[in-house]
Amino acid sequence: MNILLLGSGGREHALAWKLAQSPVLARLYAAPGNPGIAQHAELVQLNPADHPQVEQFCRDRMIDLVVIGPEAPLVAGLADDLRAAGIAVFGPSRAAAQLEGSKAFTKALCAQAEIPTAAYAHVRSIAEGREALDRFNAPFVLKADGLAAGKGVVIAESRHEAEVALADLLQGRFGPAGSAVVIEEFLQGEEASFFALTDGRTVIPFGSAQDHKRVGDSDTGPNTGGMGAYSPAPVLTPTLEAQVMKDIIGPTVAALAAQGVPYSGVLYAGLMLTSDGPKLIEYNCRFGDPECQVLMMRYSGDLATLMLLCARGELDQLESGRHRFEPVTALTVVMAAKGYPGQPETGGSIDLGAAEADGAKIFHAGTVLDHGTLRASGGRVLNVTATGKSVAEAQAAAYAAVDAIHFPTGFCRRDIGWREVEREARSSQQTAGESAAT
Ligand code: AMP
Ligand code: GLY
Repeated sequence: MNILLLGSGGREHALAWKLAQSPVLARLYAAPGNPGIAQHAELVQLNPADHPQVEQFCRDRMIDLVVIGPEAPLVAGLADDLRAAGIAVFGPSRAAAQLEGSKAFTKALCAQAEIPTAAYAHVRSIAEGREALDRFNAPFVLKADGLAAGKGVVIAESRHEAEVALADLLQGRFGPAGSAVVIEEFLQGEEASFFALTDGRTVIPFGSAQDHKRVGDSDTGPNTGGMGAYSPAPVLTPTLEAQVMKDIIGPTVAALAAQGVPYSGVLYAGLMLTSDGPKLIEYNCRFGDPECQVLMMRYSGDLATLMLLCARGELDQLESGRHRFEPVTALTVVMAAKGYPGQPETGGSIDLGAAEADGAKIFHAGTVLDHGTLRASGGRVLNVTATGKSVAEAQAAAYAAVDAIHFPTGFCRRDIGWREVEREARSSQQTAGESAAT
């Protein structure tokens, strides 16, 4: 089959790499792609905002499936227009993508379907906001309603800070995304990401991961799109995962179908593992970046067939033996350009050397090829990814690959996976202690 993949980041490189391994793939096209994706796909110039142009390309090249990587084209309704033209698409409709596009939509759905999540108020004015703040305790959580590229959340330690944030958000500090605000109860616990694939009826789990949002070691400094991740997330035990499928994912898919907006594609749940059980923080309507990179490192099924079954509403025909994740840990370290998440220094040269020699995989996130020299072209530049039998082993392999790369204007965190590495060390000390005592 012929596939068109839309997007240009590390997430899309990981998808292209895995799709290219499919025995049923004939041709893979990517738009706009990047130099890493170009190793697996023919890059084409298409504007995802120009829906008729994408449709025409699909007809000309006999595309059987369009895979939409990022959220913006989904929220803009590209999947709807392609489906109306008879083209199979991996990704939700505009109406279903509101799960990511509108916090208020998701909170209302959770309330209706009794999905565990933080208590909330949806406000449109300072007066409504002040009244709602009276009902919550510090720290206060305030969110712009619409897409804000991960920058629309404020955690305010005091009432004063919360009022300043409320005014900023309502006055459009985040553009039109802020015309309405969601105020939430602060949830305490450890965060984990969980993924599920659905065609609107059948739902299958697609693994877990943990991200590292802060730019600096020990989770310090400003928030980013994610500086590294690993999969699986052992904190999300099989019991908790089953609970998430039953209490959160299942009811969400059923409630959307009942509203006449069936969800098709990947559902990415940001969870807080609280003392009362897992609660939904937010939904995304696409794979996480860089979570996708670690999921793809472990997935050993045929991704192209899986995505086509999902797009056609035939996920119930998936042969379970062909849907497998390797029982290893995958860990990815993001190498970013100095300055990120502020203004990144672009143009710096990159020499990948022999970084992939020992089985590591380098996914390109923000690179360009300039007369044969690889250069940084964005904030997050490379995703250096490796696997191991433990998180510590995967971490060591990923950093060995990082150290083989020459990228003088780049930087990375040195502690991706720290929570699990500490837990692994504690449990092996405990085992050693127990065997010494016997
Ligand atoms: P979101 O964009 O909704 O994922 O929020 C970004 C980050 O803010 C999350 O990853 C959490 O770390 C934090 N956050 C969001 N909502 C809450 C909440 N209700 N309680 C505690 N932390 C939150
Ligand atoms: N890594 C977080 C995200 O993709 O939203």
